[in-house]
Amino acid sequence: MKVDVIDNTLISEECEFETVLSFFKEKRKFPEYIELYILKIISEQIGIGTNEYFTAEEYLNNLPTCFIKREISSIDEMYGCKSKISYKDKYLSYLLYYLPANIFKIWKPLLDLQTKDLLKAELKILDIGTGPGSVPIGIIEYYKSLANCFNDILFTLNFTLIEKETEFLKIANKLINMIKNQLPANLNVLVEKCIIEDITEDSKYDSLGNFDMVIMSNFITNNEGKNQIYGYDIISNLKNHLLDDGSIIIIEPGDNENCRKLKLMRNEIINNNILDIYSPCIGIWENKTYYDCSCFSMVRSYWELPKIYKFLIKHGLSKGKRKDIPFNYIIYRKDHKKKYEIINNQKNFVKLADIKKYNEKKINVIAMIRTVIYDKHSDNVSIALCDGTCSCDNFNSVWIRVSNSLLIKSGFTIPLISAERIRLRGVEVKLNNNEINLGINPNTKIRIEY
Ligand SMILES: C[S@@+](CC[C@H](N)C(=O)[O-])C[C@H]1O[C@@H](n2cnc3c(N)ncnc32)[C@H](O)[C@@H]1O
Repeated sequence: MKVDVIDNTLISEECEFETVLSFFKEKRKFPEYIELYILKIISEQIGIGTNEYFTAEEYLNNLPTCFIKREISSIDEMYGCKSKISYKDKYLSYLLYYLPANIFKIWKPLLDLQTKDLLKAELKILDIGTGPGSVPIGIIEYYKSLANCFNDILFTLNFTLIEKETEFLKIANKLINMIKNQLPANLNVLVEKCIIEDITEDSKYDSLGNFDMVIMSNFITNNEGKNQIYGYDIISNLKNHLLDDGSIIIIEPGDNENCRKLKLMRNEIINNNILDIYSPCIGIWENKTYYDCSCFSMVRSYWELPKIYKFLIKHGLSKGKRKDIPFNYIIYRKDHKKKYEIINNQKNFVKLADIKKYNEKKINVIAMIRTVIYDKHSDNVSIALCDGTCSCDNFNSVWIRVSNSLLIKSGFTIPLISAERIRLRGVEVKLNNNEINLGINPNTKIRIEY
């Protein structure tokens, strides 16, 4: 891997990109050393003894029963209703439960950028609504993997954090400082500014300079007051603080309502020409400049439950048993770059908007992967597709169902996530009442671009 001398982006040879993809091969594993830091911070905050040699189990077993009960009920109730959440008395619950689930979401947008050699070796990042530091920690972990694999490159992450809750910012700073003690020699991490501010549609960021990445994760959600109403204006204002080759990354929960609202806001941003979409919802056959769909989809990040989760579940937590973490994301840019170039020659391929005409016929299709579901009880994988030609709201979903062993046998050993581009030659269209299936047979040719 080398660093482009002009724009500082990481350029991978094919085999090096395989190395990056291999980060995604296994289920995400929350690093044990971060579990230890979380438990150390919590133990200190509630005034019980800490010891640098404690294991996660020892920290957990030392937690007072009344504290565990209170946290479990706080976590189970959190975000239960649509009203604005107050984080007072919930900082530690968020740190225990939501930070572990949220750190890996940013890996998918980072991979999307790296796929096209657009990720930089040095990043200046603005994280808005930092909470206890989920996004910075996720980025540090991704860059740690890069730094360990490519040790002749010097990586630098420079963060500016904005958060309205002082307590969260204190925790984020503490955790990032602890993590900084465990960095590879070729990774520098700096928290340049921590700003306590309640962001509104009028917020100005003038003294902050320009950024390679502006990130809002779980910030424009139902529960975060007026952020959803202000979302369009907040993003429009931030455009002026994005470097010409920078990205604004929005990550949201993977539920129906937040997903649809994220897409409605996206439609306004694109239709009013504020920014472009780099991924995931881009057209296959034409450059989409107008969006009207607000269909429900989700990205799933599969993970192994951390020790903290297993402990809380053993003590009565109802949440947290899912093996996948659902979320949605959008990468906006202003340089018109897209994750995949438009395909001009449609010869021999059928657009999804026309697919109903081909019931029981064999066709060829190119589409973006919207959602991937690995069935936990079988070898089956269900994959939902979109090529941008149909508004999924008034169009049935298009699915392929394939065995994971067939995918692996065909050379696709890296689990699919979403926003990959798939080419299928020789799939049979099967119309059902509510959906369209594309049947794969042993002769179907599958090609996937990550
Ligand atoms: C759901 S948490 C997300 C934390 C972190 N980004 C993550 O993904 O885990 C939302 C955070 O945004 C902060 N926040 C919400 N609205 C805000 C605003 N208008 N200005 C600044 N911070 C805000 C909250 O205090 C909270 O820490």
